[in-house]
Amino acid sequence: MNQHQALADKATRSVMEAGKQITDDYWRLRYHVAPPAHWMNDPNGFCYFNGEYHLFYQHHPYSSIWDDMHWGHAKSADLVHWTDLPVALAPSEAYDRDGCFSGSAIEKDGRLYLMYTGNIWTGSNRDTDLEQAQCLASSPDGIHFDKCIENPVIRKAPEGNIHPHHFRDPKIWKKDDYYYCILGSRTQEHVGQILLYRSESLLDWEFIGIAAKGGGKETDGFMWECPDLFLLEGQDVLVMSPQGMKPEGDKYHNLHQAGYMLGKLDYVTGKFEHGPFEMLDYGFDFYAPQTMEDGQGRRILIGWMAMWESRMPEQARQWAGAMTLPRQLFLENGSIRCRPIPELAKLRGGMTAYVNVDVTGEFHLVGLSGDCYEMEMLIDLSEAVHAGIKLRVNEAMNEQTVLLFNREENTVTLDRNCSGKGPGGIRKAPIDLSNNTLHLRLFMDRSSVEVFIQDGEKVMTARIYPDEKSTGISFFADGSMKLVRLFKWELNKSVGLLEAD
Ligand code: FRU
Repeated sequence: MNQHQALADKATRSVMEAGKQITDDYWRLRYHVAPPAHWMNDPNGFCYFNGEYHLFYQHHPYSSIWDDMHWGHAKSADLVHWTDLPVALAPSEAYDRDGCFSGSAIEKDGRLYLMYTGNIWTGSNRDTDLEQAQCLASSPDGIHFDKCIENPVIRKAPEGNIHPHHFRDPKIWKKDDYYYCILGSRTQEHVGQILLYRSESLLDWEFIGIAAKGGGKETDGFMWECPDLFLLEGQDVLVMSPQGMKPEGDKYHNLHQAGYMLGKLDYVTGKFEHGPFEMLDYGFDFYAPQTMEDGQGRRILIGWMAMWESRMPEQARQWAGAMTLPRQLFLENGSIRCRPIPELAKLRGGMTAYVNVDVTGEFHLVGLSGDCYEMEMLIDLSEAVHAGIKLRVNEAMNEQTVLLFNREENTVTLDRNCSGKGPGGIRKAPIDLSNNTLHLRLFMDRSSVEVFIQDGEKVMTARIYPDEKSTGISFFADGSMKLVRLFKWELNKSVGLLEAD
């Protein structure tokens, strides 16, 4: 067996062994992909190969903190039920000895290729003492990968105003006769930018140019990570994760951001002419999203449901990090909408329904509670200015996670200051409430919540760490709020399945 396979197997044994110890942890998510144990960050190599969906991820299989990056792996037949697979990539060669960083996947001649960044530390300062090069691995079955002997296939960052070392996260796609790839980068003065390359073979890459670049590091970030570029309903979209944008009003309060710009890529000059940066999620925990086109031509996005340097109480329980639900992207009225994929309805179990309920003051609906559910609501706010919903309520323990609607301010606020053990804070999303109607689809899991507002116009995602007994749901309004309809479904477990399930 080659050295790489031996190291990948060792990593798999480590994570599987640790995984047995944590199966009864209450905070383990029931329908979001998370590592069997230990650390996870970015989604990588998200693709559809030989009739199955593959999702790889940045993974440290030896502890619940970020360290030498491997690629963890899960697969699914329907994007809903996920089976864990062996670790796909381990650092094993001189060019990737300190980590197989983020990248993407593409099929060529019946094999699945992973393009990733090989990282090496050249000193003790992790910001300045590093070298990054782009590498390939391939597999006939989508499970066992061999690194290409030609590695690294892009050895150095190009000349010019391009930082020589921060140069990572290749996202590949094919158009006509060429493969293209974009990379995250920064200028020598630390302003984020994106590089575009092309290749006929996947092995020899030609630098085309700087596709896009920020105006300044305070406003646009000092580094653009994890770029992704695709066509959505006739429009080119660049998704990326800028680091270090300064807060502006209610925006950019997380340490780093993830969003998109609409534009047009000129494949000859490499220039991406684009509009403004827009956020893809207004919550706390959303970073480094990656998309893929599935068998039906849908553009589907998954993000890392966490944030760098955020406190993650599950680390004390030998795991860390999770993925968001798969979200389908739509382009409507000049902006992107994110909706949970329709297949998630397969998770639904017992249903509770209410119609035309008037809420005044504080209000509970008999029998409405839970910690793992989907709730879809149409709300009439014409008789209220401030109203909202409390989730994961436990009065005795003073726990609650609050969604607040403000019809005057036209905002939805997510407040996790009393959510439980994790970090607190509030985040606000601007929502046009001028027609007095609010539509919500809310996915609650054991330690996460995702809120899709006005049919995906805005999304708010948060990790929360409530007590097992914090399962209450209540409503409140200063005037009166009408629940025109409320459907709630219990959701079943669909992740961490074994090959036989
Ligand atoms: C984004 C990122 C990538 C890098 C990876 C390392 O979260 O910083 O730029 O490849 O994580 O784990």
